[in-house]
Amino acid sequence: MGELMRRYWLPALLSEEIPGPDCAPVRVRLLGEDLIAFRDTNGKIGLLGEHCAHRGTSLFFGRNEACGLRCVYHGWKYGVEGNVLETPAEPLESDFRKKLRHTAYPCQEVAGVIFAYMGPPEKVPLLPCYEWFDLGEKQVFTVKSFLECNYLQGLEGDFDSSHTSFLHNNNIPDAARLKRDGAPMLETEETGYGMRAISIRKVGADQVYVRTSPFIMPSFSIVPGPPTSKFEEDDIRGFRFWVPIDDRTTWLYILNMRKKPFAAEERKNLRRWIGTGYRRIRNGANNYLQNRALQKATSYTGIEAVNPAEQDGCATESMGAIFDRSKEHLGQSDKTIIALRKMLLRAVNDLAGRMRDNRKGSSSRSKRSSSSNRCAEIAH
Ligand code: FES
Ligand SMILES: [Fe+2]
Repeated sequence: MGELMRRYWLPALLSEEIPGPDCAPVRVRLLGEDLIAFRDTNGKIGLLGEHCAHRGTSLFFGRNEACGLRCVYHGWKYGVEGNVLETPAEPLESDFRKKLRHTAYPCQEVAGVIFAYMGPPEKVPLLPCYEWFDLGEKQVFTVKSFLECNYLQGLEGDFDSSHTSFLHNNNIPDAARLKRDGAPMLETEETGYGMRAISIRKVGADQVYVRTSPFIMPSFSIVPGPPTSKFEEDDIRGFRFWVPIDDRTTWLYILNMRKKPFAAEERKNLRRWIGTGYRRIRNGANNYLQNRALQKATSYTGIEAVNPAEQDGCATESMGAIFDRSKEHLGQSDKTIIALRKMLLRAVNDLAGRMRDNRKGSSSRSKRSSSSNRCAEIAH
């Protein structure tokens, strides 16, 4: 799955984390790899392997100066593309640095989100043109939050419509309709970008309520819901990225978009459930500040949530970081989750098969070329 993820542009961090040229570098852990992100003097973004190619000191402590990041141990300096620009502890005439190339991943920045591509350079895809790429920076506001479980446990919640009738019984805009039918009929439809998960609820004698949740490869989603305002320019739409930090932890990026720019106060409000280091204020260590009296009175969970993701966090983190799936008992309500898992497994197997074929192809090519080299030597 890691290999598959590496074939996509993934959100690596927010622009606000490295706000200006030559600002302090930051640590970024992505797909189990420890990296350092920095913005150079010209505003270009670098995402480098954390440990200096010389003897491994962390570049987090480095000096971000004059178009490069310099290790504090012996002053080796790196450009955003991973070139070693200077090795001041080596003799002046040394060209040792030219033989080296440090781990560096290309980055692109759109609407306050910095995307990175960590796959093979010859396979780099175009950055998909999501609809919000055309919006102004002030019309998009992304809230990032840390999740202490595997990305898939989190992601699956977005394609599990029945839980919304229970876990979120009192605080999502369509809660009243969702509660009327906790056992919706579920369908899935594959698309070019991934899949649509569809839930159909009976909400009246001759009325159904249909929710369609797009799944976008490899781990992105759109959560459906009614307009958040009767005025079109105030209506907030969302987009979600579930990005593995490693096998056991995840960054969730909730991207809010709206025609009317978000004011500073609104931004503050949208992220008021997030504490320092993008950790959630309600988390496993404090039992999500669950209120048992509230649970008896009005809320299914007793977890008051600014964002429903706080209740989702309780549901998916409390499974443990990686739940043993052989212990599950999947029912009708998991039809869409099953389809999602099958789709991801198929994609993983397809890629693994193609990589195997390429390896076979290249080893028989190299055998052929080495035997023809031998022939050439003999003939010579
Ligand atoms: S360890 Fe970084 S320059 Fe020596
Ligand atoms: Fe949810």
